[in-house]
Amino acid sequence: MVETIQWTGSGVVMIDQTRLPREIAYVTCGTYEEVAEAIVTMVIRGAPAIGVAAAMGVAIGALQADPARLDQEMETIRARRAGTRPTAVNLFWAIDRMKSLYASLRGRPVEEIRAALVEEALRVKAEDIQINRAMGAHGAPLVPDGKTVLTHCNAGALATAGYGTALGVIRAAIESGKKIDVFADETRPFLQGARLTAWELQQDGIPVTLITDNMAGWFMHQGRIGCVVVGADRIAANGDVANKVGTYSVAVLAKENGVPFYVAAPVSTLDLTLDSGARIPIEERASKEVTEVFGVPVAPEGIAVRNPAFDVTPNRYVTAIITEHGVATAPYEESLRRLASAKLGEN
Ligand code: MRU
Repeated sequence: MVETIQWTGSGVVMIDQTRLPREIAYVTCGTYEEVAEAIVTMVIRGAPAIGVAAAMGVAIGALQADPARLDQEMETIRARRAGTRPTAVNLFWAIDRMKSLYASLRGRPVEEIRAALVEEALRVKAEDIQINRAMGAHGAPLVPDGKTVLTHCNAGALATAGYGTALGVIRAAIESGKKIDVFADETRPFLQGARLTAWELQQDGIPVTLITDNMAGWFMHQGRIGCVVVGADRIAANGDVANKVGTYSVAVLAKENGVPFYVAAPVSTLDLTLDSGARIPIEERASKEVTEVFGVPVAPEGIAVRNPAFDVTPNRYVTAIITEHGVATAPYEESLRRLASAKLGEN
């Protein structure tokens, strides 16, 4: 399985997700600013992977900061991260986790602070893989045997530290002996499904069929899809789910066709400060992602464009939310709150 991000001792190396699957290339980031840039340009993407990168970025910043200015530097790094990708809450979660640790160490020798922040960033990465495995164990029983699972975007090893959230559930179902195959939506405009999910599953020998986004409803109508499993970028307290744009349409089509719609996400993706999805900030990306395909214009010059990177699926379309602490079902206010405060392995 592919390794999305690695710590080098003084920086990070990431697989360049903008170049897959044409080329397996790596980007090295030696400053926190370079990590921020890699997040903005989507060299690394996917909510949990962004969280790991952000934590490592803070650690790099601490290693390089002038010891006399560590306080100010930590604030600058934090402010820079917050301006990268606004929807994926894992980014803020990871930075807050690093910041709390830093706050608890203030006044300690600088070398001790630096070592502790590096250790914490490595822990964020290691825990993410454990969390994905736990999510897989909770989600695998929900996947119907002998059926096709539809997924949207990439919520796999590439979107996390490894194993994946939605693809982790699929991997776990296969590891438990189920015979399933995957339909991957291509996921316009950034093509995470075509470029990343199709590639990642093919690499692992998991049967995968690529479809364009507008084909999903038709395959559901024909009874070809056993269930849908997607990831999430932010989940509000009431179970409304922000995920890659197009997820909402898939969820509505799933309900119309009686297909279960599952969301797999770690509790770090829950934002219980928001009572509903209406308050989730939606990132709007460059119009070129819509008007061009790999640099080739596909629309008239000067055309008006909208490019929201995410949408919000109302909780009534969500059959269940699979977390590392167990499976939440409606009413989500209650079930999510309970799972958010649970410990790994408790449920
Ligand atoms: O814009 P992206 O590629 O970062 O969007 C990714 C998604 O929407 C994923 O489904 C989500 O982050 C969950 S990843 C485990």
